Amino acid sequence: TPLEQQLKDLESFQVIAHRGASGHAPESSMAALELAHAWGVDYLELDIQMTSDGELVAFHDDTLERTSNGEGHINDHTLAELKDLDAGSWFNEENPELADDTFAGAEILTLEEVFNRFGQDARYYLETKSPELNPGVEEALVRRLEAYDMIDTGRVLIQSFDQESLLKIHDLNASIPLIQLVWYYPDENNDERLVEWTGVTPGPDEITDADFQAVADYAVGLGTNYLYDGEPVITEDFVEQAQENNLAVHVYTVNDADEMQHLLDWGVNGLFTDYADRLIELTE
Ligand code: G3P
Ligand code: CA
Repeated sequence: TPLEQQLKDLESFQVIAHRGASGHAPESSMAALELAHAWGVDYLELDIQMTSDGELVAFHDDTLERTSNGEGHINDHTLAELKDLDAGSWFNEENPELADDTFAGAEILTLEEVFNRFGQDARYYLETKSPELNPGVEEALVRRLEAYDMIDTGRVLIQSFDQESLLKIHDLNASIPLIQLVWYYPDENNDERLVEWTGVTPGPDEITDADFQAVADYAVGLGTNYLYDGEPVITEDFVEQAQENNLAVHVYTVNDADEMQHLLDWGVNGLFTDYADRLIELTE
């Protein structure tokens, strides 16, 4: 079945366009998605949040200031209010060398707009972002995926740092493949020791097969950072051990070609990158 094919594809290397082609165009905009789609990436990655009137939109930050001309928390605004914002001009201002007049006025996209544009012709790697600020996001998301027939057709992965959010998704639809996101960083009291932000696993130095298995009980993979403050937090052994426990390893967010090559040599199963074009060049 298509879903079985999707799971099989996860064993090989996946190019994940982080917020679309966000190194070239405003993140999570239609321009960024169009570009990544045209390159033939394996997944379009988007963070999903909910508006005050219950619509699902693709937006990374909890607040509007960095990537739009709006103010405040995204989930305090209605879709109509968000649709009036300009989520593109900030990119032109910050990246004059990449500026493009057509980016100005870019709209915050609903998930429906994304599905209406790319439909069954793309795969989507959707994150339940800040689920504590977006109550009900799991149910709304699963219902949308079902309505657009994205699950049985093997079109979607759902990722979250929030384990509870992933388990909610599974309660709603057990077929959806899940990725547990983790973020490793030095313990503030002992920087020799790495810990995990949300406590889903112990740090990579202390992790055991049983810890990986506990994640493999509900998820098909782990999404992990590679670096903290320029220093690697995971090793080739970590990658191997995760894979031996049936977890694909996807690493974020890797934009440097040498780092990409290094992780490819380790045999990771995918990379989140703002520059999928660079990654495709290395994998071809
Ligand atoms: O979803 C993987 C990676 O994108 C997690 O970090 O902050 O970019 O969503 P963030
Ligand atoms: Ca993300």
